[in-house]
Amino acid sequence: EKGTYPHYMLKEIDEQPLVMRKIIQAYQDKQGNLEVAADITAAVREADRIYIVACGTSYHAGLVGKQFIETMAKVPVEVHVASEFVYNMPLLSEKPLFIFISQSGETADSRAVLVKIKEMGYKALTITNVPGSTLSREADYTLLLHAGPEIAVASTKAYTAQIAVLAILANVTAQSKAIKLNFDLIQELGIVANAMEVLCDSKEEFEKIASQYLPFTRNCFFIGRSLDYFVCLEGALKLKEISYIQAEGFAGGELKHGTIALIEEGTPVIALATQENVNWSIRGNVKEVAARGANPCIISMNGLDTDEDRFVLPEVHELLTPLISVVPLQLIAYYASIHRGCDVDKPRNLAKSVTVE
Ligand code: M6R
Repeated sequence: EKGTYPHYMLKEIDEQPLVMRKIIQAYQDKQGNLEVAADITAAVREADRIYIVACGTSYHAGLVGKQFIETMAKVPVEVHVASEFVYNMPLLSEKPLFIFISQSGETADSRAVLVKIKEMGYKALTITNVPGSTLSREADYTLLLHAGPEIAVASTKAYTAQIAVLAILANVTAQSKAIKLNFDLIQELGIVANAMEVLCDSKEEFEKIASQYLPFTRNCFFIGRSLDYFVCLEGALKLKEISYIQAEGFAGGELKHGTIALIEEGTPVIALATQENVNWSIRGNVKEVAARGANPCIISMNGLDTDEDRFVLPEVHELLTPLISVVPLQLIAYYASIHRGCDVDKPRNLAKSVTVE
């Protein structure tokens, strides 16, 4: 039930801090250490390469998950869109492990890949929000998102839950390989939950951004580098699916290779700047688009901010920034949709579970 909320999407955005805390609880043992079933960490540890397969928002979470697994657990990862992977499989490694990420656990494109790789004799782990779903039943292992039912077609809390669970999986696998990490993930996820709360309490700011930048625009670009780029892909998908504004996410460095030709007087460009090592280069990209007439909106993180920024996010661990930088993008998309009179929870032409290939 959406209770006093006007839309499920807004309720689900607001539930994100609580979902983070639930996940921290669900993946903790009695001593308060993070825990994932030993056969799952063994499967990750023993794989020579991991293939993450997913669609839409879940694919975007997979892109972030790749960074976690490679950085923390030191296992190489490829991320694939299920509908492409099914007929255009890369040359597989000798001991692959497949990870399917799916909120519903019913997505037909992902299931087609699962059926195929099972026939080939490979093992699969499904990360899903729905216990007993098809992808969960047919895989060898399951990790649950504990996000509660997600009703709005636009996925929000499932995305952040997927990223948190992938972080925990990477972290616990690293521990099982005796890889030393210089941060405490439980503590860092707690900081994330608090930061999400601050953002959920700043809704008017994001409503203002939506009304300042997006009410009449035909298109909107999201730019970022590194982890921010992946969140830009997700921010663009959110905006296009519920407001019907043509939106694209781009890697900052790619702009000059073509996309910058699309910038016109007043084109909104939302830039994420949460990564220290690319902070100055993404700001350089903002200057390039601004010089061509764009209307830039920089969302940065505390400690990396400058006077030109439109919103400064509370500081969280650098690897975990996607968990919080996505929240403003979800809220901006939500308000853009409302301002344009669109059906937020049930956008045209879309279904919550895509059960046809
Ligand atoms: O249930 P799944 O996670 O497998 O669904 C995958 C996509 O269909 C889904 O994420 C879709 O892109 C959402 N509408 C995005 O908001």
